[in-house]
Amino acid sequence: MNRKSVVKGKIHYVGVNDRVKPLFEGLWPLPYGVSYNSYLIDDETIALVDTVDVCYFEIFLRKIKNIIGERPIQYLIINHMEPDHSGSIRLIKQHYPNIVIVGNKQTFGMIEGFYGVTGEQYLVKDGDYLALGHHKLRFYLTPMIHWPETMMTFDETEGILFSGDGFGSFGTLDGGFVDSCINTERHWDEMIRYYSNIVGKYGSAVQKALQKLNDLDVKMICSTHGPIWTGEHLKKVMRMTDRLSRYDADEGVVIVYGTMYGNTEQMAEAIAEELCAQGIKHIVMHNVNKSHSSYIISDIFRYRGLIIGAPTYSNQIYPEVESLLSKILVRDIKDRYLGYFGSFCWAGAAVKRMAEFAEKSRFEVVGDPVEMKQAMKEITYTQCENLGRAMADRLKKDRG
Ligand code: FEO
Repeated sequence: MNRKSVVKGKIHYVGVNDRVKPLFEGLWPLPYGVSYNSYLIDDETIALVDTVDVCYFEIFLRKIKNIIGERPIQYLIINHMEPDHSGSIRLIKQHYPNIVIVGNKQTFGMIEGFYGVTGEQYLVKDGDYLALGHHKLRFYLTPMIHWPETMMTFDETEGILFSGDGFGSFGTLDGGFVDSCINTERHWDEMIRYYSNIVGKYGSAVQKALQKLNDLDVKMICSTHGPIWTGEHLKKVMRMTDRLSRYDADEGVVIVYGTMYGNTEQMAEAIAEELCAQGIKHIVMHNVNKSHSSYIISDIFRYRGLIIGAPTYSNQIYPEVESLLSKILVRDIKDRYLGYFGSFCWAGAAVKRMAEFAEKSRFEVVGDPVEMKQAMKEITYTQCENLGRAMADRLKKDRG
């Protein structure tokens, strides 16, 4: 048996690393890859918690067999049905035909729909319980993190929370999987990028889930992506998730703009300089043509101030900025201060479009929007400074 797989006692890590896929969900870049975590509880009754992307099934099965040999697995607990975790269900069922799948009402329709798998089921409701022998598991339904069937499994014996995507992050697990044994540095930013892009729309569902977990004595979080969290890291992960799901943010400003020939970018520079002159330290600038939207969204979750700029293009707002506006609205981000600016050559449309966005977003509009014809003039510098100062003043009002 491979001792390196032990998480705690009879619980083993049997997940895999994906360093091949360029885009998670076909959308989000994976510069550090991603892990698909699965756990095996080798008790009197053996249970597998979630599976992995089907491309990694052979490695996954080998890891399982290294631990339990030819002994059967009795239960497959499905906390989440997105195919990065459920993808190996059909093959697991082929190898372990008598396995009983554990899920909630929403889970089983998806298993049949995605994989045509039926058979014996263990249907759980919120708070239901399953004893494996030494380990006693309790199930908590946590719908809409970020799919309707999502649930979490709490091992009351060891205080281990199998949290599905909850508390997950991008980034592979290089060598080890427990936070205390690896360098977790890159996982913190990647956790915010993961949360904001994938789960971000569902803040109120996350808040409900956190309330359910409040009374549990969680000693270890085993999510489906990224490190296993313990000790101070575990507390930090909980705090971060709580803040992100309340749309709470730090003092700072994201200035995001489109630009074709650098004129609109000059407006962004003038605004940023004024913000800095007014004592705002955290200023993040994104040119939409260079920064992938997932990094921009991540920074918008991080900072309270948002200033958006765009040229007019074919009598519309610059298309890459239009796309970003829609991504912001979809996530239903709340409580941001918004400023905006735009440019045009012969007829302006960008600023009008951003006024519509401002209304839909329900963000608090700060300062006067700036609209520039063709290129920077003295008046444009003054207007940009005024916008920067208005944003700085608004942010400083919130200081304790
Ligand atoms: Fe990691 Fe929602 O799947």
